[in-house]
Formats: sequence, structure tokens, C-alpha cells
Amino acid sequence: MATPHIAAEPDDFAPAVLMPGDPKRAQRIAEAVLDGPRLVSDVRGMLGFTGTHEGKPLSVMGSGMGQPSFTIYATELFSQFGVQRIIRVGTAGGIGKDVHVGDVVIATGAHTDSAMNQLRVPGVNFSAVADFHLAQAAWAEAEAAGMTDRVHAGTIISRDHFYFTPEGQTEALSRYGTLAVEMEAAALYGTAAEYGTQALAVLTISDHLLDHSGDMSAEDRETRFQDSLRLAVAAALS
Ligand code: HPA
Repeated sequence: MATPHIAAEPDDFAPAVLMPGDPKRAQRIAEAVLDGPRLVSDVRGMLGFTGTHEGKPLSVMGSGMGQPSFTIYATELFSQFGVQRIIRVGTAGGIGKDVHVGDVVIATGAHTDSAMNQLRVPGVNFSAVADFHLAQAAWAEAEAAGMTDRVHAGTIISRDHFYFTPEGQTEALSRYGTLAVEMEAAALYGTAAEYGTQALAVLTISDHLLDHSGDMSAEDRETRFQDSLRLAVAAALS
């Protein structure tokens, strides 16, 4: 069986899927986290793998960048492949004043400047929110691992533009308590609402848009990425 963007059998995916933007990162995560990872789809180079983690089935697949790309893969996974939960694992730019490079953000809600959720229910400013139980499981893992000094839970913004921002918008969002900027979570939360499934985004802060004092080495970035992966896996298998 194949959907337009995924060539796999209906039971090739686990009920829970971790989704980084970069398909090569999906492969690295699959090799690091899964026992017996098996390539299940590679249409357009968007690699998807399924294996087990501590005996439980788990898949990892790239999403590409931006809300349209994420929505295509999430829609096909939820509607055709029996997927019940998607946890986005990715990077984000920090904008919160207490958020530092290398920290982890559990995105409990995602503002957006995109029209994708605006079109879902006419006349409504849709609330793009994470699944409460997945967010709770990620936070519980942060507590168990003694990581809560560098993990934040709260709102983010999923923007369409990477290179264009209306003047003052980032500062205003920061004042309203928004923790970070990325490009996919709001679409994931909207798609999960459409299918009655569960979604969460767990993000590593790769840079800070308003404070450039805390940049990190590539090595530090990779180890800090392990922090968010740990929370994402715990949520996925909770
Ligand atoms: N903007 C959007 N997405 C991002 C950023 C950013 O500054 N940093 C990491 N992902």
C-alpha cells in the first residue's frame, strides 16, 4: 500500500512515531534508540524506520520543514497507517528570557501566523495545544532525570517564515510568555485534533533570537539534543 508520500504496508508503523524535521536525523535517532530498526519508507528521501525500544514498538520518520510538509506526513500517518501519537523532536530558536541555548522546551501550546489551522473551523481562532497526557509524561521524565532546571513547559510560536519577521513581533511574543520559535508544532496539533489522536513537540533550543551570549559548540548541541530525545521517547511510550 502507498499514500502519495509514504510507501509502506498498513502495519509497518508503530502506534507512536518520533518526527524530526531532517530525515538524516531520523536515521541517526533510529540507530540510537531503536532495536532492530527497519527502513519502512523512503519516498522523496523522507526516511521512516520502525523497531522497538525496551520491547515496545516505536517508529521514527522525518517530517521536512514547515507546516505544509509536516501536515502531509502527519495526515497520512494518522489516517492510513494507524498511528495514534506523533512526537515532534526538533530545534527551536529561544525567545523566552529564562530560556537558554541547550535547554529543552515542552510545547504545551503553539501560536501561529499560518493560515493552516485558521481554515479548519471557519470563524474560529483555533487553539493548537499538545496532548495533556503526553506533556505530563515528558515532564515526569524531566523530573525523574533531575533535568527540570533546564526544561521549560509552555507556549511557542510556529511561524511560516524563517527569514522574515514583522518588526517587534518576536519581542511582543516574548513579553506574552512565548518560549521559542519553530515552524511545525501548530500544524501537528491541528492535525491531531482533526483525527482525535495525540501530539506533542519537544524542542531543543539551538540559538536565542534576542540574546546571543550563550552559543554552543556542535558537540554540546548534540548532547543537549539527547535530553529532548529522552523526554520524547518517554512520552511516546507512556
Ligand atoms: N526560527 C524558526 N525555526 C527555528 C529557529 C528559528 O529561529 N531556530 C531553530 N529552528
